[in-house]
Amino acid sequence: MIPSAMSATPQSRIEIDPAVVTAAGDFVVPEPLGFGRCLAPVVFLADYQDGQWGRGRLLPYGPLGLDPAAKVLHYAQVVFEGLKAYHVGGSRPMLFRPEMNWRRMNRSAARMMMPALPRDLFMDGLLAVTACSEPYIPRASGRSLYLRPALFATQPTLDPAPSTTFTFMVVASPSEALASGPLRVVVERTGARAVAGGTGDVKVSGNYGAALHATAVAAQSGFDQPLWLDAISHRYIEELSVMNFFAVVDGALHTPELNGTILPGVTRDSILALARLEGLRVHERLMDVDELLQMIRSGRCTEAFACGTAIIVGSIGLIGEHDGRLCPLPEPEGPHAGRLRERLLGIQEGREPDPFAWTHTVAPLDTSAPDRNG
Ligand code: COI
Repeated sequence: MIPSAMSATPQSRIEIDPAVVTAAGDFVVPEPLGFGRCLAPVVFLADYQDGQWGRGRLLPYGPLGLDPAAKVLHYAQVVFEGLKAYHVGGSRPMLFRPEMNWRRMNRSAARMMMPALPRDLFMDGLLAVTACSEPYIPRASGRSLYLRPALFATQPTLDPAPSTTFTFMVVASPSEALASGPLRVVVERTGARAVAGGTGDVKVSGNYGAALHATAVAAQSGFDQPLWLDAISHRYIEELSVMNFFAVVDGALHTPELNGTILPGVTRDSILALARLEGLRVHERLMDVDELLQMIRSGRCTEAFACGTAIIVGSIGLIGEHDGRLCPLPEPEGPHAGRLRERLLGIQEGREPDPFAWTHTVAPLDTSAPDRNG
């Protein structure tokens, strides 16, 4: 099945500043591209006040007029999502499982005392930014337009209570993958990313800010990323930096079970579905890090990899400790990782059949719509 039904870009629901078309036409994508460094010249914004969402606006990219007392700056009431628009195989750009991001964003919003986003508003933002960005969505396999929807609190008061006003925005970045393997990973045995009852299983920005220190310490020791363990016993693997973790043990795929502290990744879910489809045995379970290291040394664990929207799939070359001990993976290039990455990318990029109807085709932006300015 090659892509799902075309989704109309919702001109009738949003306001489009005609300047976005000129901005998109003039835009030149730099080389080297990297991840998240080049910002698309367009932004989608919608405001929430008096208990309801206002109309979405597609505007040229530029600074926001944020009040210095806005609650997002003081109490970190902000959540985000990450997904990609691909334009490699098909004639139109395609989104990958955007509905999952919408559902997760609303779970994150509920956890942070923020209003739910209507599905139409979330999709309007993604479709309008993607359609407008069509001229510069990278066409090379592995590259894409990274989309960053975010929802944040704007009420300008310092009382530590939930905001009553919010902004939803979508910005985008033509990008390469965040990183590529083989990754050098260090076991983080002191710090913790999340505790039960906290916010580890939702995509709140604070999770990412709080993780920067361990990543910097990992880099100082010559590693790429920290491997997070549970915060209580410091034994069980949770996430790999900002990604989900997989290992291949005795030919089967193992990943930490979703226990309330791990983010349920869209890529994680897709990898599990593809692995099951190809008949691979799959185990979602508690994964003791020392047991895993032992299984790597004995050769039972042959490979490990990270997955996430930004990285796609990246193999792990070695898992080390801050005291200098290193445990190299027998298959650092990750044959399973490589195959699953290709399978997933083939679907995302519209080069391969889409057995789960995951892709969502984006219609052109019709800037001639009569009501485009409201
Ligand atoms: C993603 O893979 O989308 C992530 O959330 C990582 C991001 C922080 C770059």
